[in-house]
Amino acid sequence: MAVADQPQAIQRFDARDFTHLSEDMKTAFDRDGILVLDGLVPGDMCNALKARTMEMVEGFNADDHSSVFSSVSEAHASDEYFMSSGHTTRFFFEEGAFDSAGALTKPKELALNKIGHAMHDIDPVYDRFSRQPAFKEIAEGLGHQSPLLLQTMYIFKQPHIGGEVKCHQDSTYLWTEPQTCLAFWVAIEDATLENGCLWGIPGGHKGHERPKERFKRSDENPNKGAHEMIDPSPFDESGKVALEAPKGTVLVFNGLFPHLSAANTSDKSRHAYTLHLIDGAAHYPDNNWLQRPADMPLKGF
Ligand code: FE2
Repeated sequence: MAVADQPQAIQRFDARDFTHLSEDMKTAFDRDGILVLDGLVPGDMCNALKARTMEMVEGFNADDHSSVFSSVSEAHASDEYFMSSGHTTRFFFEEGAFDSAGALTKPKELALNKIGHAMHDIDPVYDRFSRQPAFKEIAEGLGHQSPLLLQTMYIFKQPHIGGEVKCHQDSTYLWTEPQTCLAFWVAIEDATLENGCLWGIPGGHKGHERPKERFKRSDENPNKGAHEMIDPSPFDESGKVALEAPKGTVLVFNGLFPHLSAANTSDKSRHAYTLHLIDGAAHYPDNNWLQRPADMPLKGF
C-alpha cells in the first residue's frame, strides 16, 4: 500500500531516515494530538516481533487457565487474571472464543485479542523493539523528562472476529497527575479501512486536562476494576479521520487523544504493537489498575 494513495486527512511524515523530531513534527503533535511517522520501524523488525509473538502463542496452553477463559467462568478469575497482569505476559481472547465447557471454538492463534502487559521487561525481542533509540528521542522530544515504559501490548485484530473498539482515551487506563500517558502504536501488518485501522479525532486532546473517564482499582475490592465518570458528554466523532498505516508506520499519540477502531470484517489480520509511556516526574496513583511488584519497578529506555 503506497502512502501517496491515501487521503491526506492528517499530516504524515516520511520517517524512514528518522534521527530526531523536527519542529514540524512537534507542531503537528501539539495541534492534532497525534504524529504519524511512516516507515519509522523497518520491516524486518516488525517481522521479528511477529515471529517472536507467534512463538509465545504456540507455547501458551489455554487449557491451563480454563477458570479464566470459559464463558461460564467465575468473573473473579478473569478479573484477577487481568488486574494482576501488569508485570507479566498474559493472553486475552476475543469474546465468544470459548464454549461453555471452556474449549476454544477456533485455533488459539485466530482467537486471541491481545497479549499484555510487560513483555518489554521480560522478553529480549520485545525489550529491543520497545527500547529502539527513535522511541526515546520521540518521548524526550515531546516533553517527557524521565520516560518510563509502563505497558506493552500485541493486538491481533483477527480476521472476521476482531471486534470493534469504541472511542476512548488511553489516559483513562494509565492515569498520572498531571496526565503524561504517551502511546506508540506500530503497524506490524498493514492497517487499512477493511481490516480495522485506527480512527482518531484530530485536536480532540485539547480543552481538558483529564480524560472523560478513569478506570482504576475498585475501592471496595482492589482485585476488581471500576470506572469513574469524569465528563459524561459523548465524544464528537464528526471530525474523526481514518489512520491507515502501512507496516512499519508508527502513530504516536497523546493519552488524551480520542481514538477508536471498527471491527475487522476482512479476511486479513491487523497485527499491531503498542507501547505506553508515562513520565516518571508525574505522580502514579496506587489505585491505578496496572501495578508492579516492589522487586520489578518500571524502567526507562
Ligand atoms: Fe487505545
